Amino acid sequence: MKFESLDFYREYTLRNSELSYEFSHSVYTDCSHPGLRYDMDLLRRVTELAPGTRGLDAGCGAGARDVHLLHTWGFDVSGIDAVDENIILGQKLHPEIADKLEVADLGKPLPFDDATFDFVMCNAVIQHLPTETTERITLPELTRVLTPDGVLQLMFKIGSGVVTILDRTYGFDSVERTFQLYDEHMILKVLEDLGCSLVPSAGRHELGGLLYFNDAKPMRYCVFWVRTG
Ligand SMILES: C[S@@+](CC[C@H](N)C(=O)[O-])C[C@H]1O[C@@H](n2cnc3c(N)ncnc32)[C@H](O)[C@@H]1O
Repeated sequence: MKFESLDFYREYTLRNSELSYEFSHSVYTDCSHPGLRYDMDLLRRVTELAPGTRGLDAGCGAGARDVHLLHTWGFDVSGIDAVDENIILGQKLHPEIADKLEVADLGKPLPFDDATFDFVMCNAVIQHLPTETTERITLPELTRVLTPDGVLQLMFKIGSGVVTILDRTYGFDSVERTFQLYDEHMILKVLEDLGCSLVPSAGRHELGGLLYFNDAKPMRYCVFWVRTG
């Protein structure tokens, strides 16, 4: 089956939500750092680095797993996603955070004031945006809504150009999917030009610098944290 990227998320909302829970403590392979094993390591690190408790999950996905989890950890987190079905499922699964979830497009100006959040996470989302939109709108917007000293966690597929792969995560329904790949050094340069600096590597026990891993497809990802100036 072949879908436009957002139609894929509309078709597989429930399955994606289930997978997000199944994969929360697994999936990463060939990790570049011993402290990086799965999504939960990223969630822990961004909350350690953040100067406060207000956060945004930009492209929170079906069911808004991380917005809910962070709420149970005591953080005040909002979640946005371009796909209505993802937000509606999150509100249904987690009524206690329903008013924290809303539909918004990361290819457009965000519906938040400047300096609203102590941390922003944007995981596996810019792969669905053209590079020009990411550079000119998404990254400036994600940094605009951060407080001074706030932290952005950005995770994305690396490489060059656009690729189409057969995703077998969906069992018999193998799905053809298309992704925009990014040069991590180019993305970092855009963020540095926006006044951010990379959170450096701090040895074997603390995540920092440019980190890499593969997912189940498998595709190579980069993840890093930057701090606003
Ligand atoms: C691979 S999922 C990642 C979900 C979640 N961040 C995670 O790491 O589990 C990509 C998400 O990005 C959302 N998305 C794609 N394009 C978007 C856009 N332009 N604005 C907001 N969300 C978008 C999709 O609807 C989907 O929920």
